[in-house]
Amino acid sequence: MTRRAIFAAVFVAVCAVVGVATLGLNTPRSKPQVSASPLVPPTTWPDYGPSGPGFVAPAGAEGDLVALGYRLVTETYAIIGPDVSQPVMRFAGNSLSCQDCHLNAGTVRSALPLVGVFRKFPWISPDGKREVTLRDRLNECMTHSMDGRPLPDESREMNALVAYVKFIGGPPAEPSQPMPRPALPADAARGAEVYAKVCTTCHRPDGQGARIGSANDGQGYRFPPLWGPDSFNSAAGMNYVSIAAKFVMRNMPRGVDPKHPQLDVQQAWDVAAYLHTQPRPIFPTGRR
Ligand code: HEC
Ligand code: HEC
Repeated sequence: MTRRAIFAAVFVAVCAVVGVATLGLNTPRSKPQVSASPLVPPTTWPDYGPSGPGFVAPAGAEGDLVALGYRLVTETYAIIGPDVSQPVMRFAGNSLSCQDCHLNAGTVRSALPLVGVFRKFPWISPDGKREVTLRDRLNECMTHSMDGRPLPDESREMNALVAYVKFIGGPPAEPSQPMPRPALPADAARGAEVYAKVCTTCHRPDGQGARIGSANDGQGYRFPPLWGPDSFNSAAGMNYVSIAAKFVMRNMPRGVDPKHPQLDVQQAWDVAAYLHTQPRPIFPTGRR
């Protein structure tokens, strides 16, 4: 084979792999089925991803609340996003969904899982001076990761998120896995090369990702933006190089097996350092 033919063959193979990977992601997220049975929380670690058995909303009023919580995590932009029709419901400042980071509705062990975290709260600081409730923590993701404003403590939406986190709160939380330190200090210039090679097919060269529909239609993203005006803000956990490095190494490119990552430790830190140099909303944004 000539070099050109080899290149063409490799190119076709890569396109096929990306195509299959994105096909899986592009299938519309099916609406949750409603069970006839009452509220029975999962006793083993649930899998709400496209290839798992999926989320089944329990019957009854409490079940409705859990189902709303599930929708808020998976389709945040459609219920409390910046483009929803009722201005009072625009709590999130960007069009991300919680599960852009808490993958598969928080049921992926490697991706900031929400399973089992219910009993971590309230969290008391070691000096006993600070108490963080689950509601406080949820609102931190609202004001930082979602670049928005807090949900009122007694709103139906806040109660729904709490009900969902409680619903999947039974199985033990995933123990936190250490992220190895890189051999060399994380370097954004090397990270830019990793980004160009590994991330642009989905998140695009300009980092703005790809919407499902068009701007301001409230349909969210197929591939979320990693920086820019519609991304998480400067105070978000994902804006810490160590947190982003660990998340990216274990979960990106989307679909990678965390036990056999595609990026090595150095590449993960470098690409995270690159993301950190990119512009994003400064907290507090004063957007509204
Ligand atoms: C841009 C990524 C991102 C988005 C979007 C996001 N989060 Fe988070 N979330 C994180 C990170 C990172 C952490 C952990 C931070 C840390 O380790 O201190 C976290 C932590 C949490 C925790 C505490 C988990 C624990 O183990 O203590 C909860 C609960 C939570 N998020 C819920 C939500 C909800 C609900 C939404 C949507 C309204 C949301 N998050 C959106 C990144 C995100
Ligand atoms: C095959 C497509 C694909 C590739 C390649 C890919 N990602 Fe992602 N990424 C996704 C999808 C899709 C999500 C949202 C999660 C979901 O919807 O399942 C995501 C989410 C993220 C998030 C959290 C959400 C946010 O908005 O910040 C970060 C950070 C991220 N990717 C970084 C990277 C980096 C860095 C690379 C390259 C090393 C990369 N991704 C490569 C598809 C991809």
